[in-house]
Amino acid sequence: MRLTIIGTGYVGLVTGACFAEVGHRVICVDNDAAKVRVLQQGGIPIYEPGLAELVQQNVAADRLRFTTSTAEGVENSDVVFIAVPTPPLPDGSVDLSFIEKVAREIAAAMTSYKIVVDKSTVPVQTGDKVAETIKRYCKARVDFDVVSNPEFLREGFAVEDLLKPDRIVIGVRSQRPVPAMKEIYAPFNAPIIVTDINSAELIKHASNSFLALKISYINAISVLCEATGANVQEVANGMGMDERIGRRFLNASLGFGGSCFPKDLSAFIKIAEQVGYNFGLLKEVQTINAEQMNRFVKKIIDTLWVLKDKRIGVLGLAFKQNTDDVRTSPAVELCRRLQKEGALLRVHDPKAMEKARDVLANVEFVPDMNAVADGCDALVVATEWEEFKKLDLERARKALSHPILFDGRNLFDPAEMERLGFIYKSIGR
Ligand code: UGA
Repeated sequence: MRLTIIGTGYVGLVTGACFAEVGHRVICVDNDAAKVRVLQQGGIPIYEPGLAELVQQNVAADRLRFTTSTAEGVENSDVVFIAVPTPPLPDGSVDLSFIEKVAREIAAAMTSYKIVVDKSTVPVQTGDKVAETIKRYCKARVDFDVVSNPEFLREGFAVEDLLKPDRIVIGVRSQRPVPAMKEIYAPFNAPIIVTDINSAELIKHASNSFLALKISYINAISVLCEATGANVQEVANGMGMDERIGRRFLNASLGFGGSCFPKDLSAFIKIAEQVGYNFGLLKEVQTINAEQMNRFVKKIIDTLWVLKDKRIGVLGLAFKQNTDDVRTSPAVELCRRLQKEGALLRVHDPKAMEKARDVLANVEFVPDMNAVADGCDALVVATEWEEFKKLDLERARKALSHPILFDGRNLFDPAEMERLGFIYKSIGR
């Protein structure tokens, strides 16, 4: 099918590349001319495993191209996806101005029937607003349908998640766009659920909030584990074997971050408030998440006492593994908190150091993870990168003034660390 994706951020670019990979002809539009130039020249502005290869192959096969012109995209496709940012406003609600602007641009460019699909995460009832806007600004007076098709991609695993989805959600206001939407997704062999448009929009916020709740739940359990000498990983394993609960997203940590969960939680709380419901449960999820970071910082201070002028090595800057994204990263937040206490930081991340330079000042970026501990008083693991499990622990132990390791991601085995001579403090164990 002929598809256009407006917005080449994480979602738009991965979606465009994967649609092209399964045989559709895709135009990716972005109003950032510099970014489009990079993409046209074969560059990829973000790190996402497997994405660069996918983009290169599909550009070469002439199934994927990039432009700054919305009109060009709309003219040359049957289905137009909106994948632009929906950033938070200071009060926690969602800034929908990018969505509104794109809806007007699409409307102005339409000369025949189009299906306009919203992929960005938006508050319930946004689809109706988009439809109203298109109707108002479409001079050609042609038919169109607005569809909600939320994405469930995890950064760092986005290509994998898109090519092998658990489910496809299609929210519609009429049945007319359903066959085309099913055809787009047929190559992915995933269950497709067709709902009304408001339900589809709610599915997205409800899913992300539930996953955040799951993490805060296990983080709350981790506090009980620390107080009682239990092990949160064993508790999670035991709970997770119940299929009704499931083991995924039960990894205790120094808290969740990223560009989705914190923003979507605030938005969902606000949306609930606007329809007269106090979503206290989700407010508690936020509180537990904030406290988890406080507790981790306190653990470091309680152990090292005064942090002023102490040298601390931090492994991880990205908000999670497999990404260079540092937006709302707990690792960056931790660095700032340690700096506020006067600590001097040596930091490393396998992919996120470049982006971290924009958000972290006065830290020493160390290219080799095994050299981070050199001359430090303690080492901290802040992101769950798999490769940190291969850290040369013997070298780190010798390099530290005293072998203290704080693990905010439970990457190592406490008994083994003790055997190696470390004072090892993790989460809920
Ligand atoms: C999340 C959802 O998982 C995706 O399904 C959704 O499409 C996406 O938001 C979005 O709305 O765009 P993402 O933010 O990329 O994906 O990352 P996650 O893998 O969900 O991790 C979020 C945070 O939770 C990270 O900071 C991670 O370290 C933390 N986390 C995750 C934990 O602390 N414990 C866990 O068990 C799992």
